[in-house]
Amino acid sequence: GAPVEVDISKIEPGQLLVVEWRGKPVWVLNRTPEMLAALPTLDAKLTDPKSEQPQQPDYAKNELRSVKPEIFVALGVCTHLGCSPTLRKEIGPADLGADWQGGFLCPCHGSRFDLAGRVFSGSPAPINLEIPPYKLSGSTLLVGD
Ligand code: FES
Repeated sequence: GAPVEVDISKIEPGQLLVVEWRGKPVWVLNRTPEMLAALPTLDAKLTDPKSEQPQQPDYAKNELRSVKPEIFVALGVCTHLGCSPTLRKEIGPADLGADWQGGFLCPCHGSRFDLAGRVFSGSPAPINLEIPPYKLSGSTLLVGD
């Protein structure tokens, strides 16, 4: 399929945009400084905090899992059985616990991911959310290769 072009200047801080690429949802989240600051504090609770599993592109092999820190691009497809997780931005909601710093919750079997798509230990999903190939040039994001 052809690459999908997204104008990231139109995405407000904290806003999630969903685009379709090869029939799959691709998330583009404009992470706020507060969202980014929470990520390094979560490492001890994650299965693969540095994304060392081999199926990750090189630019996803770090805590932020992105080329540009604030712009998080990921396939919105749970690595368990393929449902699409839901963004839950609030801090410490009753159903997710006081230590929840925002992230994605899968409605099918409860896998939890942080705002870098890193899976929390104990989730049915075995690995972090997949990062698709993409390029950024100025305010233009091209998803695909
Ligand atoms: Fe997401 Fe099973 S498909 S937890």
